[in-house]
Amino acid sequence: LRTEALSELQGVSSPQELNDLRVKYLGKKGALTEILRGMGSLSAEERPIIGQVGNEVRGAIEAVIEEKQTSFQKAETEARLRAETLDVTLPGTPLPQGALHPLTKVAQEIEDIFVGLGYTIAEGPEVETDFYNFEALNLPKNHPARDMQDSFYVTDEILMRTHTSPVQVRAMHAMNGKTPLKVICPGKVYRRDDDDATHSFQFNQVEGLVVGPNIQMSDLKGTLLQFVQLMFGKQTEIRLRPSFFPFTEPSAEVDVTCVQCGGHGCRMCKGSGWLEILGCGMVHPRVLEAGGYNPDEVSGFAFGMGIERIALLKYGIDDIRHFYTNDLRFLGQFARM
Ligand code: PHE
Repeated sequence: LRTEALSELQGVSSPQELNDLRVKYLGKKGALTEILRGMGSLSAEERPIIGQVGNEVRGAIEAVIEEKQTSFQKAETEARLRAETLDVTLPGTPLPQGALHPLTKVAQEIEDIFVGLGYTIAEGPEVETDFYNFEALNLPKNHPARDMQDSFYVTDEILMRTHTSPVQVRAMHAMNGKTPLKVICPGKVYRRDDDDATHSFQFNQVEGLVVGPNIQMSDLKGTLLQFVQLMFGKQTEIRLRPSFFPFTEPSAEVDVTCVQCGGHGCRMCKGSGWLEILGCGMVHPRVLEAGGYNPDEVSGFAFGMGIERIALLKYGIDDIRHFYTNDLRFLGQFARM
């Protein structure tokens, strides 16, 4: 029985089989148990001998069972540890990373340049009064130049601002007649335009204003040249063309040498070598007055540009609507710039 039991036990391959054998030999109806139970019919001399042998066999079987059990447990633990192994040297799973919108980037770039030139940044309400948006900027009611900036009205006197110039008026008021004032005003503006590749009912502007004693047109030109060379590259040049704005006199439109072809003529500049980027001029005396300054004592210049337009030119983008539809394939191109 011992030989049979031990050889069977050597062959077990699972904890289940091991348990079956334990029951088979040592269980209540097991083979060894039967033998020990039959001892009652033995003689007094035989009993201790058979009893001792029986106990030895039981001990031997139990020892093997225990040994097997331990080795099954060990194997199980090892298998579990192997399955749970982490390779800490594996590369991680990259998470998609956000990035600043190209318009935000360009706006910040413009702001950085002017802050570097000593300007402060001012913001103001997008819902404006007729006074700040038009009246104080020498655009009285029924002035035909109001047509240049068709507006969204909330009431007769309140509208969505059509430019950030009203912030400049507020900036002048905040100075209480003191100079120098050097401020740029970035922000959203609204116009009643039909959206297309170059127009949007809502877009972004940065306007600038300088007021001080003896500010001249040459200061304006020098400032703008400095700006475009920092924005588009050292080789960039500008030219001023006469223009009209009710709030500036004289007024000019500013072109830069084409940022794509360097002025030789390409599709973007329609062969001319020049790109229009902003409007500017010397602040109209009536505007200085509305801002709380004496036009006989101080003068100033102002300029205004569309951020979308600057971004279109800088990156050679052909449709303003790309900025608003937020296709990640488009936006992703600016993520690492
Ligand atoms: N406010 C003008 C616009 O939105 C831009 C501008 C600003 C022009 C300052 C001249 C001087 O069109």
